Amino acid sequence: MNVLHLSAECYPVAKAGGLGDVVGALPKYQVGLGMHAMVAMPFYDKKFTQTHQFECVHKSSSKLGYRSFDFEVLKEKENTLGFELYLIKIPDLLDRTEIYSYPDETEQFVAFQIAVLDWIIATNKQIDVFHCHDNHTGLVPFLIKHSNKYKSLATTPSVFTIHNGEYQGWMGWEKFHYLPEVNAESGGALEWNNCINPLASAVKCCWKYTTVSPSYLEELHYKAHGLEFLFELEKHKAVGILNGIDVDVWNPKTDPMLSHNYQKTTVKTGKEQNKLEVCTKFNLDPTKPLFTFIGRLVIEKGADKLVELIREIFLRHQGEINFLILGSGDKAIEATLKEVQIYLRNFNCFIGYDEVLSHQIYASADFILMPSRVEPCGLNQLYSLRYGTIPIVRSTGGLKDTVIDINDKNGYGIRFDSLEIMEMVYAIGRAVQLYQDTKNLNQIRKQMMDLDFSWTKSAKEYYELYKSLN
Ligand code: ADP
Ligand code: GLC
Repeated sequence: MNVLHLSAECYPVAKAGGLGDVVGALPKYQVGLGMHAMVAMPFYDKKFTQTHQFECVHKSSSKLGYRSFDFEVLKEKENTLGFELYLIKIPDLLDRTEIYSYPDETEQFVAFQIAVLDWIIATNKQIDVFHCHDNHTGLVPFLIKHSNKYKSLATTPSVFTIHNGEYQGWMGWEKFHYLPEVNAESGGALEWNNCINPLASAVKCCWKYTTVSPSYLEELHYKAHGLEFLFELEKHKAVGILNGIDVDVWNPKTDPMLSHNYQKTTVKTGKEQNKLEVCTKFNLDPTKPLFTFIGRLVIEKGADKLVELIREIFLRHQGEINFLILGSGDKAIEATLKEVQIYLRNFNCFIGYDEVLSHQIYASADFILMPSRVEPCGLNQLYSLRYGTIPIVRSTGGLKDTVIDINDKNGYGIRFDSLEIMEMVYAIGRAVQLYQDTKNLNQIRKQMMDLDFSWTKSAKEYYELYKSLN
C-alpha cells in the first residue's frame, strides 16, 4: 500500500514541535509493517537539507492565482530516515530557513499543496492514501474532491490527522482564486464562519479524520476553537489514535545526546550523573529534586501560569527544589521568566529551542510539569516515561490517556484537574513527598521505563484504517 504523508514538519529535517516527531517516526514504523510510506514536505534551508544528497525527480511550474511559480520535487537519495522523503522547493517561497511565521504563510502552504498534487498527476504516481497532517495540508482533501484539475485523484482516499485544532489556517475569501479550477458552488466545503478554513474543510472533505488521542476526540465536541458543531456533524468519520514515540531516537540506553547513558537497572545512578551535569551548567542544586517544563511558552500549554506557580512553590519549598525551564514562544512570558531568573535561587530558564538540551533535561529531571489547557496528545510525557522522569500533568486530552496517578492502580504519575495555583502547588507538594521516598521513587521510575508507548501498536491502527478505505 502506497501512503503519502503531507506535512509542514518532519524530524530531523524540520521540527517545531510534536508534529515533526510524529511525521518523522510513523512512516518508518509503517515501512516496518510492509507498507510503502512516503513523506512530502516543503523544502527548508536547514542543516538536514544542507548535509544530505537529493535528486530532482520532477520539475515544473504552476499557478497560485495570477502568480506563476516554478517548483522542483527533490527526493532524498539515501532514504536515511527509513522512508522516501520528497521536498517541494519553490524559489522565494519554499526555500527559507524557518518553518512558520512568515507573513505569506498562506501562500507558502497553498502553493505547497498545489505543487504536490500537480507532481502526482503529472507523473501518474500511484498513491493509495493521502494522509494529510494539520491545517497546512488541509486543502488537499477538498482539492482532490472538488477541483477539475485533480479529478483523476477523486477516488483516492484521504485521511486527515488533527494534531492541533487550535490552529486552523484561516484565510480570507479574496484568496479563493488561489485554488485551481474550483467551482464557486463547492465553496461551502471550504467555509467556516465567513472565511476559508482549511482545517474545517479537511474535516468535511476527507474520508476519515483522526485525532492524536481518543480523549482529545471527545473534547473537540465541546472545545474546538469554534468548530464544535462541525465535529458533532462529522463524528461518523472520526477515529482517535494515540501517538507513539520513536523508541530508537528516544532511548536513554543509546541516546547519543546524553553524556551518561542508562537503562532500567541503572536508572538511579544514570539520572544522578546527568542531573549533576545539567545542574552544574544551570547553577542548580543536584541534591534537590529537579522539576522541569519543556515546550512552547504559550497559553495552550499553561505557560502563562508558570511564573505565579514558581513564585508560590519556591516560597513554600524554600531551598528544597530546583526548577528548570526550556522553551520559547510568547514574548511576555519569556520576559517574566527571565526576570524571575535574576532573583530566584535554584531556578533557571533557557529561552530558545535546543533539541540536544531537551534530551539532557528529560534524562536529568526528576519531574516534568505539563499544565496544559489543551493537549491533543503530548509527547513530552511519553519521552519522560521512557527516561524515568515522573510526569505531573493536567488531566486533559492525551495526558489523560497516558498518565495514571500514583494513587490509582498501577499508577506512576501525578495528575491534577484545574489550573488553580493551589491545585498545582498541591501536586508539586505530592511530588516533593514522593522524591523523599527513595525506594518508591526508584520503583516507579523502573515501572515507567517498562511501559510501551512505541509506535508499533498505533502504526497498525493506521494501517487498519487505510485498509478499510481501499
Ligand atoms: P507540541 O507539539 O504541542 O509542541 P508535543 O508534546 O507533542 O507538543 O511535542 C513537543 C516536542 O517539541 C517534543 O519533542 C519536545 O521535546 C520538543 N520541544 C518543545 N520545545 C522545545 C525546546 N524549546 N527545545 C527543544 N525541544 C523542544
Ligand atoms: C500537536 C499537539 C500535541 C501533539 C503533537 C503531535 O502539536 O499540541 O499535543 O502531541 O501535535 O501529534
